[in-house]
Amino acid sequence: MRVGVLGVGRIGAFHARALAGIEAVEQVVVADADRARADEFAVRAGVEAAGPDEVLGRVDAVVVAAPTAAHVEMLRRVADAGLPVLCEKPIALDPAVAREAVAYVEARGAGLQVGFQRRFDPVYLAARAAVRAGSLGTVTRVHAVSVDPRPPHPEFVPTSGGIYRDSHIHDFDIVPWVTGVPIVEVTAIGANRGAEVFREHDDVDVSAVLFRLADGTLGTAHAGRQHEPGYDVRLELAGTAGTHTGGGVTEGDFLTRFDAAYRAELAAFVDFASGRIASPCPGADALAAQAVAEACVVSRREGRTVRVG
Ligand SMILES: NC(=O)c1ccc[n+]([C@@H]2O[C@H](COP(=O)([O-])OP(=O)(O)OC[C@H]3O[C@@H](n4cnc5c(N)ncnc54)[C@H](O)[C@@H]3O)[C@@H](O)[C@H]2O)c1
Repeated sequence: MRVGVLGVGRIGAFHARALAGIEAVEQVVVADADRARADEFAVRAGVEAAGPDEVLGRVDAVVVAAPTAAHVEMLRRVADAGLPVLCEKPIALDPAVAREAVAYVEARGAGLQVGFQRRFDPVYLAARAAVRAGSLGTVTRVHAVSVDPRPPHPEFVPTSGGIYRDSHIHDFDIVPWVTGVPIVEVTAIGANRGAEVFREHDDVDVSAVLFRLADGTLGTAHAGRQHEPGYDVRLELAGTAGTHTGGGVTEGDFLTRFDAAYRAELAAFVDFASGRIASPCPGADALAAQAVAEACVVSRREGRTVRVG
């Protein structure tokens, strides 16, 4: 299989190198709006570089890792070329635009996987297995934590969509995936306790979300943008018969914490693109997580509990 990677910034560079290490991948072709960056990266990583318009004619599958604002146009082009695609999250900041893009890709039958790598992380796999094994009894309570070690680059903040769409979105994907039950109601609060850049963009750098799942399970999710000892990613489940906890503070950032998960996600994408498995993270699931984030945005703005969807 030959795989194209569109965008070789932080995550795209990681993905391209990881793909090059997968046995079933014969060739990786990278492209970037900044051609010099693509060329330099290709030399360093031992892959090939091409112009963004050339890539699609040279590969069997594509990873979209450009900034979010470029995703929809790329998805359309990749779908028109009939190629399966792994698109980094989020598909688009505007949920209506994301819905249209998913419908467009699906109508062309090319296949879409969205980049929620926690589905491949041992902490969340173990939590899901515990729920499925029934060892917790009836799950009644969930607690999720996602706290970055340091704030993102200030230029990223206005493009991120805010803490619910950028950071909590991973919780809103993984909690229904682990429990098998969708989130139906949220109450979101937030605070500014660190870098002023978040306040300037009507964003917060600490947040807490109280949520309810469709079966009555109650949950809390905490996110934050600054925790110097490291990246704090955790999940706790409690049920009538037991509790399950996983994760904790690790040194480094998301690329180190989720190194193995990203690699497993890419290996799964190769299997998906080869037709061996169904999409491990379909567009509908990404849209569902996005709907929860949107409900949080409304909840914080209006100071009330909001039904999802
Ligand atoms: N799943 C995760 O955990 C995770 C983590 C980080 C980023 N992301 C997502 O990945 C995407 C990229 O984030 P990043 O942090 O790597 O961004 P980045 O800014 O580091 O890199 C983006 C790259 O894309 C290039 N680019 C811009 N427009 C382009 C275009 N039209 N065609 C080709 N290349 C183009 C830029 O020159 C840059 O090299 C975002 O959507 C982000 O939300 C996901």
